[in-house]
Amino acid sequence: MMNNLGVIFDLDGVIVDTAKYHYLAWKTLADELDITFTETHNERLKGVSRESSLDILLELGLVTLSQAQRKLVLEQKNKDYLSFIAKMGPEEILPGVTPLLDLLDRLAIPYVLGSASKNAALILKQVNLFDRFKGIVDGNSVTKAKPDPEVFLLGAQLLHRSPDQCIVFEDAIAGIEAAHRAQMIAVGVGHKDTLKAADYNVNHLTEITEGFFTALISEKRTDNNESKLYKAR
Ligand code: BG6
Ligand code: MG
Repeated sequence: MMNNLGVIFDLDGVIVDTAKYHYLAWKTLADELDITFTETHNERLKGVSRESSLDILLELGLVTLSQAQRKLVLEQKNKDYLSFIAKMGPEEILPGVTPLLDLLDRLAIPYVLGSASKNAALILKQVNLFDRFKGIVDGNSVTKAKPDPEVFLLGAQLLHRSPDQCIVFEDAIAGIEAAHRAQMIAVGVGHKDTLKAADYNVNHLTEITEGFFTALISEKRTDNNESKLYKAR
């Protein structure tokens, strides 16, 4: 089947559920700093860079740290986080991911990773998915965090696709906004109410079928290469 689509996957919350490990590591730090930090607060940290996450946490507790202290606590948080990551294996790949990658391979639709995490390559290796991706754009390769579109625009370059040919799978509000600012189609993975800005919503990647891509391919062919979805926005 001829197509010119490309797919960009977010990592945390889309490929693997690492949000729980981020939460546990931030919670340890919050307890040390005597800051009340719940799983609800943690929602605000999803998709946000490590540095910005610390800003949010400190703001919650009305705590100020020096630059040197910030550096120390960020290192400690990442160390705690990595102790959880070290125990991860392929069983932690979220439902629907592996069948979706198989489907994309079969349809010859290339895919890359577009993540804010500086640990992205390590996590993909832990779950044995590293070699499947055509490329990785992560927290080490971008200068501007989501909702800035930089991460996805770099992803499009790796895919050799124009932004309007790219489909982004995201679980964070900031990620959906980044995809739209990049002029890409955004699929929200998770709660529809939270991700209402997305062009499509699914609870899990298990809901994405071959028909989803074939419809997009034929739509792009008959619609002068411009998705109707963009027009609707
Ligand atoms: C994002 C997560 O993917 O990566 C955020 O959703 C996290 O919660 C960010 O803060 C940065 O991750 P890391 O691994 O570089 O600390
Ligand atoms: Mg995410």
